[in-house]
Amino acid sequence: MRAVTWTGVNEVSVETVPDPTILNARDVILRVRRTTTCGSDLHLLGGYIPAMRTGDVLGHEFMGEVVEVGPGVRDRRVGDRVVVNSFIACGACWYCRQELYSLCDNGNPNPGITEGLWGQSPGGCFGYSHAMGGFAGSHAEYVRVPYADVGSFLVPEEVSDDRALFASDAVSTGWMGADLAGTKPGDTVAVWGAGGVGQMAARAAMLLGAEQVYVVDRLPERLEQVRRHVGAEVIDYSTTDVMAELRERTGGRGPDVCIEAVGMEAHSTGVQGVYDQVKQQLRLQTDRPSAVREAIMACRKGGSVFVLGVFAGPVDKFPLGAAMNKGLTLRGAQVHGQRYMPRILEHMARGELTTEHLATHVMPLEDAARGYRMFKDKEDGCVRAVFLPHG
Ligand SMILES: NC(=O)c1ccc[n+]([C@@H]2O[C@H](COP(=O)([O-])OP(=O)(O)OC[C@H]3O[C@@H](n4cnc5c(N)ncnc54)[C@H](O)[C@@H]3O)[C@@H](O)[C@H]2O)c1
Ligand SMILES: [Zn+2]
Ligand SMILES: [Zn+2]
Repeated sequence: MRAVTWTGVNEVSVETVPDPTILNARDVILRVRRTTTCGSDLHLLGGYIPAMRTGDVLGHEFMGEVVEVGPGVRDRRVGDRVVVNSFIACGACWYCRQELYSLCDNGNPNPGITEGLWGQSPGGCFGYSHAMGGFAGSHAEYVRVPYADVGSFLVPEEVSDDRALFASDAVSTGWMGADLAGTKPGDTVAVWGAGGVGQMAARAAMLLGAEQVYVVDRLPERLEQVRRHVGAEVIDYSTTDVMAELRERTGGRGPDVCIEAVGMEAHSTGVQGVYDQVKQQLRLQTDRPSAVREAIMACRKGGSVFVLGVFAGPVDKFPLGAAMNKGLTLRGAQVHGQRYMPRILEHMARGELTTEHLATHVMPLEDAARGYRMFKDKEDGCVRAVFLPHG
């Protein structure tokens, strides 16, 4: 079959690779109908995530049709139209029973690398390096889905492929951030980053009852999407002092909930940004955390900061004093999507959660190198490149 493979830093190539087969009883094989790029892929592409090998198949956000079912699968049938969560979880271990699916003890068959980095290993993820399990990704004609009863969800008839696709990762991640940050009716929520993840965190906050929701970014076409399709207010950090603006709009108090959806390659306008970039390039720090710093500084006393953006290692100038003295709750996680996908699909079916606008560039799988380039450089207003493996 044809698949998008990683061939080196900032290089992908469409190659012929072996078809996936059922390896374990609880696997299904999916014929991929839609698969999209995610901000997390950019960190892989940039060589910031360890343990990629040439030839690894990329992609973790996808939906499709079941074409083969392992003997231990209970709920899936050939022909089912499903959307699959990006993280792989067994559904039965201690973490899965707490609904902390991305921490699954069985999802990552190769835990040694992340245990070395972080003390313990999170679960596995499709197409996300050997550190995250070495699973082949979804930018391919077919993909093997382990623990299919746990990770795949039937798409309701009313929900199109284009809409369902983003339940896989962007929406479930955004929803998790808004939920686990403790968003309550009446809250003010600020989100950093107007990519797919930030936009969906903002939408989830609204559906959870937040009264005022702000999204911070600098790319005009993304801020326009936030206004038009999400219905949140926007702050352009390239022209506005974000902290002062948020303070002013919240009667001097600051947002109750701050969600960071930018990650380790954050852009920054000031001296701090240059400092972070140089240190990252010299490998003196692995990540550029400017949006996390700003979220901590902007958050109201006693508020909650949730880090959705992906980070890999230690960071410099982390405002721990602000977090401690302001009594903040600071959390982060990879997506526990299995917990939210049924509710997300219901909102999608009712038309309360729309995602089609994120798919700014739809193309055949064969054009993936062009899609990745556009997505990386945010060229032509690209928010997500969506690949159609079967035309
Ligand atoms: N936790 C998870 O499970 C999970 C899942 C999916 C994605 N992610 C992560 O979420 C992050 C966002 O993903 P995405 O797909 O939306 O990415 P994206 O690259 O499309 O969007 C990132 C946005 O952040 C903006 N940005 C950069 N610097 C900023 C700053 N200082 N302040 C405000 N905005 C800034 C960029 O302009 C861009 O619009 C990435 O780090 C990705 O790895 C995490
Ligand atoms: Zn992702
Ligand atoms: Zn588990």
